[in-house]
Amino acid sequence: MKENIENLKAEVQLEIPNITNLKQLMDFKVTYLGKKGKLSELASEIGRLANSEKKEAGMLLNDFKNFFNDIFETTQKRLEQVALDKKLEDEWIDVTLPSTKISVGTIHPLTLVIDEIEELFISMGYDVVEGPEIESDLYNFEKLNLAKDHPARDMQDSFYITTEMLLRTQTSPVQARTMDSNKDKTPIRIICPGKVYRKDDDDMTHSHQFTQIEGLVVDENISVAHLKGTLEVLVRKLFGDDREIRLRPSFFPFTEPSLEVDVTCFKCGGNGCPLCKQTGWIEILGAGMVHPNVLRACGYDPEKYSGFAFGMGAERIAMLKYGINDIRHFYVNNMNFLDNFDRLEKEDTNESK
Ligand code: DAH
Repeated sequence: MKENIENLKAEVQLEIPNITNLKQLMDFKVTYLGKKGKLSELASEIGRLANSEKKEAGMLLNDFKNFFNDIFETTQKRLEQVALDKKLEDEWIDVTLPSTKISVGTIHPLTLVIDEIEELFISMGYDVVEGPEIESDLYNFEKLNLAKDHPARDMQDSFYITTEMLLRTQTSPVQARTMDSNKDKTPIRIICPGKVYRKDDDDMTHSHQFTQIEGLVVDENISVAHLKGTLEVLVRKLFGDDREIRLRPSFFPFTEPSLEVDVTCFKCGGNGCPLCKQTGWIEILGAGMVHPNVLRACGYDPEKYSGFAFGMGAERIAMLKYGINDIRHFYVNNMNFLDNFDRLEKEDTNESK
């Protein structure tokens, strides 16, 4: 028995260097210590030994078991380390490599302008109201004091769908809709952003579809002074605290008096430069006092109520504010253009202020 055990030990020592992974090691263990392994084979011989030899044989078998387990453990540790080293090497990451840039969406410049204007007016107690883009002749024109044969309709070439329905040419019909649907004829303070459509040829400053923001206030004793004060707050928010406005007489069928509103040039401060065509002023919107006919057509008594209204092109405001020279930039979704209005960058600079 002793000799057999010695042989078995020698065999183990000879074979162990050939084992290169944990799976082989496990199989190796089964070969020696498994139920039908080599040690069991030797143990089965004990029965045939003389009683006096049995005890020693048992000790020898036990000794082999310990011997094997020692070798097994050290080999297991070594192989585990080898496996770990290999894994670390295989999965090594060069943390100094530049990362792939994840592109984050940006807020469209028109949305930025609309959001800024909405925020301002909401803070002054206005509601934001939207209306349909497919509009009736009644709201787009008639209720706004443009009768069917009114020559002012020539000002806006329209996309008609039927003789009575068209793509709205302005956001002004939202004024009429809001006044009309307000059954109790209570005061109104609204702004209405939205898309409008005109039969224009597209070029640097014209687009067959663009965006307007309309404003309307109806209450008792509303005057041009209220309009002027409101627009001053608006232009200072959009273009800077030092801006002044100038009201020029104009004509819109739905307002009386009608006004064209200019703002002092924010580039040259009013001294004259190419942006303001050397005049010091930049035209930014149309406005006026709501025409009594419009109030009446929408159920408001012009003897009791008066109101002011204004309408501006969001593209024009964004072009002036961000120095954009071609209106078509807004619609082609060129990422190089849109990335200039990176929301995160904006937030970063705000934070560092
Ligand atoms: N609807 C006008 C346009 O499209 C703009 C406008 C002018 C709106 C004067 C108004 C206003 O509400 O009072 O040209």
